[in-house]
Amino acid sequence: MLTVSILCLLVYFTIGQTNYAFADDDETEFYEQYEYEKGKEESEAAEEGGELLGWGAVAAALLAGALLPLRRQANLIIKIFPNAKTFFISLLKTLAKWHMPIGVVAFALTLAHGVLMYFSEGELEIREYAGIAATILMGIAAIFGVILAKNKANSLIRSTHIGLLFAAGAFIVFHVLSS
Ligand code: HEM
Ligand code: HEM
Repeated sequence: MLTVSILCLLVYFTIGQTNYAFADDDETEFYEQYEYEKGKEESEAAEEGGELLGWGAVAAALLAGALLPLRRQANLIIKIFPNAKTFFISLLKTLAKWHMPIGVVAFALTLAHGVLMYFSEGELEIREYAGIAATILMGIAAIFGVILAKNKANSLIRSTHIGLLFAAGAFIVFHVLSS
């Protein structure tokens, strides 16, 4: 009788332990899944926010760069839209006045985008290297921009500023198309 009782107790104990182990496993698994989902959602949000910053940088850079075609084609534009002459001239003046702050914003958005993307994706491949090359070229162009602000008549500094930005633009096109 004692042997049977001990046996029963042993069976009872073993089943209890097994259940416990299962319950424990389930809980861990659930928690791990929850943590995994949470982490995934966070990194997806960071990635989407980062992409938005990238598009913001593109928009600001286009706005800063619009100065060139608008100035070059000013006569043609006024010829086509004579009624909008005063509006067009004041638009050009405003763009020229805000060019440096818009350029700085474009560069700041680029940096924020690059950092966020690197931390959310954590990889450095050809697409990222193209982005980094573009960022470096933009940075050097901004330095030439500051020098240009003090020497507006110097066509070499102007061409260097513009040339560096065109080169950056080529890397950006490649970067966006390869993402
Ligand atoms: C530090 C340098 C950079 C790094 C590490 C970087 C990284 C990335 C990564 C990883 C993506 C892919 C996102 C995805 O589809 O999962 C991306 C997308 C993008 N990047 Fe960059 N980037 C850099 C510089 C730039 C620059 C200079 C620009 C433009 C001014 C730019 C504009 C964009 C845009 C617009 C997208 C979104 C493309 C799409 O929606 O498919 N990035 N970037
Ligand atoms: C993505 C950013 C930028 C782009 C695409 C860009 C593009 C250009 C272009 C195309 C011009 C020639 C305009 C013309 O000759 O008609 C120009 C001029 C100039 N840029 Fe930038 N630029 C950028 C950022 C900057 C920054 C960050 C600075 C300074 C901190 C700067 C300073 C200047 C100055 C002083 C001029 C001469 C403006 C004038 O003649 O009124 N640029 N830029």
